Amino acid sequence: MTELIAVIPGDGIGQEVVPAAVEVLEALDVEFEFVEGDAGDAVLEARGEALPEETYELAANADATLFGAAGETAADVILPLREAVDSFANVRPARAYPGVDSLRPETDLVFIRENTEGVYSGIESEIAEGVTTLTRVITDDASRKIARYGFEYADSNGFDDVTVAHKANVMRMTDGQFLESAVAVAEEEGYEYDDALMDALAMHLLLRPEEYGVVICPNLAGDVLSDLAAGLVGGLGLLPSANVGEENALFEPVHGSAPDIAGQGIANPAATVLSAAMLLDHLGYGEDADRVTAAVEGVLSDGPRTPDLGGDASTTDVTAAIVDQL
Ligand code: NAI
Ligand code: MG
Repeated sequence: MTELIAVIPGDGIGQEVVPAAVEVLEALDVEFEFVEGDAGDAVLEARGEALPEETYELAANADATLFGAAGETAADVILPLREAVDSFANVRPARAYPGVDSLRPETDLVFIRENTEGVYSGIESEIAEGVTTLTRVITDDASRKIARYGFEYADSNGFDDVTVAHKANVMRMTDGQFLESAVAVAEEEGYEYDDALMDALAMHLLLRPEEYGVVICPNLAGDVLSDLAAGLVGGLGLLPSANVGEENALFEPVHGSAPDIAGQGIANPAATVLSAAMLLDHLGYGEDADRVTAAVEGVLSDGPRTPDLGGDASTTDVTAAIVDQL
């Protein structure tokens, strides 16, 4: 079967790291058809819109999408693209790799963040001069869906510890619902879990990340806690992510377009290659995903390394070394 992959490099180093990841995918024994789409600042300048309709349709109709980064237009590009693939889960692994300086070398966490509601509902108003409100929406349906996804993810990826993050002691109804739905799924399906107040959890993750595995979070908590975990493992150039929908998904590095190093050929391709590994896993090529991840780990530990990790290798050198390890 041929997998149709939408490839959207975007701006800045997206133009360097996405081709690197495609090169790695091409080295595997999987049939891909890559179709490239335009999006980002340069497209806005040239055509008057950051995300042309055809790029949106391309992502919506592909088997999966690999996205790089957009610059100033990031929100105008990535939010509609996440909607194009109908994603309800944002999956963000934060793992420390041997050979890479990190604050907490024992970190191996995956954040499963609810991606459709919570305080990102967009329901805001100014009810009087200087007085603004926001409506936080939490539904049983969306909460069960993210919880089920998180428990299944932990199960199939060998994580023993699952934590449901919330603040149900204060947001009694909304986070009360989130927790209640997650607990219901756990009980129905026989999953083990802990729950934790998100503020205390932030401290525990910093002090003892090794005690945690998969963390299932409401939208805002997932956004904040996953960035905290990114700090534990060091290096934006290493963090992949997935936006997963029922039938479709989009994979992207956590980093942006890095205008300070764009065009120099020194961007670290690891985050995007690891995003491609998540893409493989999602499409059912688990063994290929493991091979790609192992190849990246091998290169991170033995070199060559890009300047962000203290080396002097180029994006091309690192990519070639990853392909070599495969
Ligand atoms: P950034 O992630 O682009 O860069 C932050 C720092 O990390 C920079 O010093 C950069 O050189 C470094 N860095 C990032 N990725 C790297 C890599 N692969 N290899 C080596 N070094 C790397 O974040 P920043 O500077 O806040 O934003 C720059 C632009 O990117 C902005 O226009 C922003 O809107 C956009 N952005 C887009 C995102 C997206 O498309 N999803 C996400 C975050 C930012
Ligand atoms: Mg964020």
